Amino acid sequence: MRSSDERPLCRLEDIPDGRARGFLPVNRDDRVFVVRRGDRIRAYVNSCPHNWRPLDYAQDQFLSADGREIVCYAHGAHFSIDSGACIAGVCIGASLIPVPARVDNGMILIPLELPHTPE
Ligand code: FES
Repeated sequence: MRSSDERPLCRLEDIPDGRARGFLPVNRDDRVFVVRRGDRIRAYVNSCPHNWRPLDYAQDQFLSADGREIVCYAHGAHFSIDSGACIAGVCIGASLIPVPARVDNGMILIPLELPHTPE
């Protein structure tokens, strides 16, 4: 059941298994992307801690070729899908900003109020 401080993003099945999808919430400046692996999801603010700019170079392009890591295509930083931590590249020690998303009855829900980036 959805609480009053959550809103639906999309259905889980709208994201192919092992892939990612980016979203631009309507009337908001912040962007979010979701990585799906089976029934599990991880969601982050689409802003790289290196320069606080979007990670994707094209729609929904957030993952490495093998699908095991998140990649920022601006300068090639790699991030853990599970933790959001930078594990290779220019911002080791920094992390993506997690979004507490969850799946309810096949629907991905995110908070109405998303975390803000420092810039
Ligand atoms: S902005 Fe992401 S690696 Fe530089």
